[in-house]
Amino acid sequence: MAAPVAIVAAMQEELGALLAVMPDERRVRIAGREFWVGHLQGQSVVAVLSRIGKVAAATTATVLLERFGVRAIVFTGVAGGLAPGVRVGDVVVATRLLQHDLDASPIFPRYEVPLTGHARFATDTVISDALTAAAQKILRNPVALLGQKVVDDFALHAPRLHRGLVVSGDRFIASAADSDALRHDLPDALACEMEGAAVAQVCHDFRVPFAAVRTISDRADDQAHTDFLRFVAAVASRYSLAIITKWLDALPGKAQQEDA
Ligand code: ADE
Repeated sequence: MAAPVAIVAAMQEELGALLAVMPDERRVRIAGREFWVGHLQGQSVVAVLSRIGKVAAATTATVLLERFGVRAIVFTGVAGGLAPGVRVGDVVVATRLLQHDLDASPIFPRYEVPLTGHARFATDTVISDALTAAAQKILRNPVALLGQKVVDDFALHAPRLHRGLVVSGDRFIASAADSDALRHDLPDALACEMEGAAVAQVCHDFRVPFAAVRTISDRADDQAHTDFLRFVAAVASRYSLAIITKWLDALPGKAQQEDA
């Protein structure tokens, strides 16, 4: 039997749509988190809310790897757009992740995780390519997924898919000054969030594939909090469900295939 894959988001609002369709879940409580063990699209899955921030995410990833033996971790949810063309409603698939608030200089170069030699942790190319293909299909017709009213309410016309660097830190970026500083220091960063690079580091240590797909909920500026939770529930959670189920559908290792 194939080991499960893990689907992780930080907050209930980000994963709510996916948890609602997990039919045969068993909930296991460890370290204050509920791990939803079950199946999606015929794949063995463990879904969990990591809680917010790098330490919470790293703890969750470690439990997934050590207690559930997952064969891959995919992080989903929302992020703030940093690069100029990365707009609310776009989707970003990370190719690399970096902790923007990690600085052990002058002992180690800024951003480098001490003793690893890495600042930028690469995601798994096979999973990232599959998530990209799934997201591209979804973004071609957002009205089909979300309905015309939601698309109009959030002005989600012609959403785009981006691939590249995502940066993580223990700070919700909600001012033009802070996002300008990130753009200045890390000009190739597409988006910011608060967990992904920590999970990438844990997966690197365990040699387990990791990927991340995030919907842009705000521009990490002074309006970043406006309608945030409503957007997450109405748009991002549904994008996550659609992208993840498309990916799982195409993934080898379905339970029925093995039983047949
Ligand atoms: N997640 C979504 N938007 C964010 C922001 N502006 N800063 C950090 N994490 C986020």
